[in-house]
Amino acid sequence: MAQVYNFSAGPAMLDPGVMRQIQAELLDYQNTGMSIMEMSHRSALFEALVQDAKANLRVLMNIPEHYEILFLQGGASLQFSMIPMNLMLDHRRAAYLNSGVWSQKAVDEAKRHGEVIIVGDSADQKYKCLPICDALPSAIDYAYYVSNNTIYGTQFKTIPMDHPVLIADMSSDILSKPIDVSKHALIFAGAQKNLGIAGVTLVIIRKDLIREDLSVDTMLRYATHQKADSLYNTPASFSLYVLKKVTDWLLEVGMDAMTKRNELKANMLYTAIDQSELFMNEIKKEDRSWMNVVFTTKDPQLDEAFISFAKSYACVNIKGYRSVGGMRASLYNAMPIEGVQRLIEAMEAFERQVKP
Ligand SMILES: Cc1ncc(COP(=O)(O)O)c(C=O)c1O
Repeated sequence: MAQVYNFSAGPAMLDPGVMRQIQAELLDYQNTGMSIMEMSHRSALFEALVQDAKANLRVLMNIPEHYEILFLQGGASLQFSMIPMNLMLDHRRAAYLNSGVWSQKAVDEAKRHGEVIIVGDSADQKYKCLPICDALPSAIDYAYYVSNNTIYGTQFKTIPMDHPVLIADMSSDILSKPIDVSKHALIFAGAQKNLGIAGVTLVIIRKDLIREDLSVDTMLRYATHQKADSLYNTPASFSLYVLKKVTDWLLEVGMDAMTKRNELKANMLYTAIDQSELFMNEIKKEDRSWMNVVFTTKDPQLDEAFISFAKSYACVNIKGYRSVGGMRASLYNAMPIEGVQRLIEAMEAFERQVKP
């Protein structure tokens, strides 16, 4: 089948050049006569791969030396539990900014471990804008936010809170633009959007926060994974390999160029939506996400018809999240500008058909 533009929210599109490299070395990784998929995670080659992936991330995100880079499993969702288990230890309370489903899920897990204070909430606005945190309470172990809300299409353009232990779920916008790691104590992201494929979760954590609390199960302690350099148990080796390839590619492209390209793609699509008399985006303008663009005709039948129609323009997976409806186009790093152009052409052609 011909190449399509995959606008899925995750697992998401990978750069074709990265895929070709993976294909080329799938059966023989670096002259070993075997695939990376078959290789021991204790081999020198695999250990080197893990170190190289870390080094790539240090450069791309400008991660200071006093931060540990961990590759874990259990998806971004396991971090909803690991964070309170490992960090809600002194005051047994933490502040959360509620900007949608993913922060709500994190809140639900944190409540099992201590008190959760919601310091901003946009649920009443159906998450069509971002919550604002006016002030943080004292005596909290950490403050938590989600940088990009994959489902609702909102994204913080600046860091919304200031706290010595600031935590961010960056699953859906990591490496899409520069961020100041040093303003955070812990950043985490599942890999399946901007870092590669599902299976590995990146955790960047300030080293002074890693404690050996023996009341926490071994696999759920950051200290365990730090000591073993992310190889305590068998890692998601192929996912890690893909992450290494994706970060090689990002280094080649450069973060400046990638940031400009992401801004351009989002602007192109929002401009087309704003100029349309059929499609609309209801998100507060300043809060619009560069990564996930949600839009609708306000008529569920027309939305369905457009989702089908877009397929004839090779634009697939643009159906909105089930609780939101409408359309959602995810424009992660690997989505080329041509993909966005094709989607805009599909929207214009559809609008001409519906509103001649
Ligand atoms: C912002 C955000 N956080 C967390 C998750 C959950 O990730 P996982 O499926 O890796 O647990 C997602 C998934 O889409 C997400 O978009």
